[in-house]
Amino acid sequence: MNKAPRAAALHEISLAEALIARRSTRRFSDEPVDLNQVRAAIEAACLAPSPHGTAPWRFCILSSPEAKMKLAEDMGRDFLRDMAREGVSEEEREKRHAGSIRLLTGAPVIILAALSYDDLDDYEEPEKQAHERMMAEHSLGAALQNLMLALTAQGVGSVWRCAPLFCPETAREALDLPADWVPRALIAAGTPASAPPPKEIPAPEIIIR
Ligand SMILES: Cc1cc2nc3c(=O)[nH]c(=O)nc-3n(C[C@H](O)[C@H](O)[C@H](O)COP(=O)(O)O)c2cc1C
Repeated sequence: MNKAPRAAALHEISLAEALIARRSTRRFSDEPVDLNQVRAAIEAACLAPSPHGTAPWRFCILSSPEAKMKLAEDMGRDFLRDMAREGVSEEEREKRHAGSIRLLTGAPVIILAALSYDDLDDYEEPEKQAHERMMAEHSLGAALQNLMLALTAQGVGSVWRCAPLFCPETAREALDLPADWVPRALIAAGTPASAPPPKEIPAPEIIIR
């Protein structure tokens, strides 16, 4: 096991700089992403805290156009079906569907993030079990923030997409992933087509007692 992400792949950038520079990037240039950079970012993700140290995150890197298209098309079918059920107009359905296909297939690399609950503690009370799973979900957020910051530090833009949350089985089957993997999110990554503006800090709501 490595003690730190492949340092050579990470630029010398302060944490403050990375925190400010990370912005959701939804348009990418055609420049390919070096998979070593993605691996370094996944190693950074794996430094996140997790419940009982279980490291429940799983990652699938999609770099081939075929894999990206398969995932986009399969999830897209579910998306169209769900929007029809919700009464979204046909024109709007087509527009949103085309946008989601464009983002997934237009990103140089997609990192699908899944959770495995296999190593979590088992409880008899459903409420406790739900909390145990919630801890894994929290931990995925921490891992993906590490991942996106590490991408930023390497000059790679990214955006979190929640689509797999709504169709985990479809995403798992599209990529032929292990049965215990529950797809939760995907990170689309690539060189930003244009430099995003730095983020202004939303006013924190804090109570001090
Ligand atoms: C859990 C989660 C789900 C998100 N899902 C999407 C998404 O499906 N599509 C998208 O374009 N952005 C998505 N985002 C990105 C947010 O829209 C973005 O983080 C927010 O607007 C703040 O902008 P910033 O990332 O540039 O700071 C998601 C972010 C989070 C944390």
